[in-house]
Amino acid sequence: MSILKKNIFILTGAGISKESGINTFREKDGLWDNYKIEDVCTVEAFKKNPELVNSFYNERKKNLLDPKIKPNAAHFALAEFEKNCKNDFLVVTQNIDNLHEKAGSKKILHMHGSLEKAYCMYCNRKINYDFEITTNYKCKSCNNKGMVRVDIVWFGEQPKYLNQIYNFLEKTEVFISIGTSNNVYPAAGFIDFLDQLNKKILMYEFNLEKTCKSILFDKVFSGPATKTIPKFVEELIEKKS
Ligand code: APR
Repeated sequence: MSILKKNIFILTGAGISKESGINTFREKDGLWDNYKIEDVCTVEAFKKNPELVNSFYNERKKNLLDPKIKPNAAHFALAEFEKNCKNDFLVVTQNIDNLHEKAGSKKILHMHGSLEKAYCMYCNRKINYDFEITTNYKCKSCNNKGMVRVDIVWFGEQPKYLNQIYNFLEKTEVFISIGTSNNVYPAAGFIDFLDQLNKKILMYEFNLEKTCKSILFDKVFSGPATKTIPKFVEELIEKKS
């Protein structure tokens, strides 16, 4: 049966946005080469030095607003893939950028949150993250200062949408992992979850290099996502399979 008629789960990581100019985390000169996770990406870090954490995210937000940062051919190919899929299709991204949305993908879950939103830790009011967050910022609902943080999942916090994600995994017929090192759970465990379902599920990995989970995939497409994903999607649509 044509892949386009199956339920398709797409997992993306920082690698899909690399060719758009957004740095990955664990490659040479990646984000974690320049910052320590425990300084900028945990609740304890925020309590200890909120201004460092705020400036880390204000910087990434500023980068994302640079007009040079645009969706690349891999993002657009996924949007095309979704349009031609006759069954259920879901993009679960670990990325906090908005390039899938800008490329036209519709069904997207940002399991690590995104740079679009912030919230007040005191009253939980959600706000658009379209300003520089500082500890002087006063929540407009509860008037508390310094309580607003980015709506991004830090290490040790529960990722978002896990119920929806595992419900979709239960009916997944094709699992496609793109541009992730499979270092961080639970995303890195989705392939193991599917593997233990003992169902016939097509599993494809797209990366520059092999990862610790490559052995579990039916096929690994090596190379830059802007080359491998458009080619894969074009062939699917041409063959309708
Ligand atoms: N095409 C395909 N894959 C690429 C490309 C590219 N052009 N460039 C890099 N990659 C691959 C790298 O080989 C690597 O395996 O993307 C992967 C990026 O890995 P990481 O930097 O670890 O990013 P990611 O897997 O998304 O990290 C997961 O860790 O720090 C947390 O919350 C953060 O969401 C992030 C999570």
